[in-house]
Amino acid sequence: MGINPNKKAAKATAGLAALPDVVLRQFDPESTEYDQRQLYRILQKAVRESVLAPGMKLPPTRALAAALGIARNTVVHVYEQLAIEGFLLAGIGRGTYVRDVGPRRVRAAIWAAGVKDPVRKTSLSKRGKGLVDGAGAGRLRWGAFTPGVPEVRLFPGQVWTRLQTRVWRNSTPGQLSYATGAGDPDLREALANHLQQTRGVACSAEQLLITSGTQQSLHLVAQMLTDPGDVVWLEDPGYWGARSVFSSVGLKLVPIGVDTEGMAPTAQQLRKPPRIIFLSPSHQYPTGAVMSQARRRMLLEYASKHGIWIIEDDYDSEFRYRARPLPSLQGQDAHARVLYLGTFSKTLFPALRIAYMVLPPDLVDGFATAMNELFREGQTIQQAVLARFMADGHYATHIRRMRGVYRSRHDALMLAIARHFGKQLPVLGSDAGLHLVLGLPNHVDDRAVVQQVARAGVACRPLSMYSMQQVDTAPKGLLLGYGAAREEEIAANFSLLATPVQGFL
Ligand SMILES: Cc1ncc(COP(=O)(O)O)c(C=O)c1O
Repeated sequence: MGINPNKKAAKATAGLAALPDVVLRQFDPESTEYDQRQLYRILQKAVRESVLAPGMKLPPTRALAAALGIARNTVVHVYEQLAIEGFLLAGIGRGTYVRDVGPRRVRAAIWAAGVKDPVRKTSLSKRGKGLVDGAGAGRLRWGAFTPGVPEVRLFPGQVWTRLQTRVWRNSTPGQLSYATGAGDPDLREALANHLQQTRGVACSAEQLLITSGTQQSLHLVAQMLTDPGDVVWLEDPGYWGARSVFSSVGLKLVPIGVDTEGMAPTAQQLRKPPRIIFLSPSHQYPTGAVMSQARRRMLLEYASKHGIWIIEDDYDSEFRYRARPLPSLQGQDAHARVLYLGTFSKTLFPALRIAYMVLPPDLVDGFATAMNELFREGQTIQQAVLARFMADGHYATHIRRMRGVYRSRHDALMLAIARHFGKQLPVLGSDAGLHLVLGLPNHVDDRAVVQQVARAGVACRPLSMYSMQQVDTAPKGLLLGYGAAREEEIAANFSLLATPVQGFL
């Protein structure tokens, strides 16, 4: 590496008009990082972030080396490496140019497909490393066909702003100070009414606890009802968010297969009762299976017999397009073994970060105390606005309106699938929610398909990513979200997706 005493002086005299000063200034001659590594990192980032514009000619290697006070060969190697990786275009004797690494949406879709930033993991705990390695959240949170995202552009922001002004005008010191842990009393009341009427949840307002998202609800459940080493059953394929939370607190994850009736434990699995069972019976995530009555009864009896807690994630059942939604599992539970989890992320918008739990009465005080101890309840003003929004009927109106919007988008997507694939590929879970699964034959590498689709500028996610099985045995398919794509965009985006998919069949 060797520090050249003339480096700084040489840098100052450089005539490198082509290279923005901001890039040059990032190079630190005193750094302990190898010159080559440092220059590679700076240039690659500058190209990725379009600080160096596509088509721009880079300085000759000799000039850049002199300016930075480093060996010319170092610059040559960095240019070569970046050319191999597709960031630069180098032609002998013709100079080196910045390549167009694609329209923003293409890059964004590649992020969404799960390509991760290199994270420095050296100083992380085992738990931290496990969390980073197993991370499931996509980078793209918007656009066709990002799963799990609602149509946020139709949220009635004006109504919200008006209610918010009113709430602020009448706000009390109690609302702005540290809260008590269970949530805004009016919101709990409004939610209890809503859940009783629309989801058959058996509850009073006192059983409701407001959180800032399902992830936080799951954290509380794990902290309060389990100890490290306890066993949790998870649907497979299933929600990666629950997997992340439960493994981060040291639980032993046992994947349980899913069939058309929902979670389907084998006789052998039933012989070893877990501490908790996490499931999404109304619209299994991500396959869309609706749990049958027989399976519901079996699991409720099993939970009661063995003192198991069932965590029911009812994340999107407000949006059903054919039959009426089935009532919640919680409403059928005679033994208070079910904790019901819901969220406003799908019905309103995810950045609101407000969700809720309906708890068996004897758990409420302990959970509220833990909420205060671990997280400190927040969003109290937003909670009060939401309570008004519900009490004045805006919530029900918005859900009704969005159900119509999503149904049209769903139909447009089904039509596009039929046009391109006929009955060649199965479609799963298309009766409800904001996504469906386009099944792929088991020999197809759905992660590779998603990468190809991303290069065409469309985001979707591989079904195998939701499974804890080895990739070759996991079910294959594409999760296609239609919440964040306008009806008129769906056919065109699906055509972009269909071409690479055909290539894999
Ligand atoms: C199965 C499932 N449950 C719950 C959620 C909602 O999580 P949150 O309330 O943290 O936004 C999601 C979001 O994608 C989900 O896919």
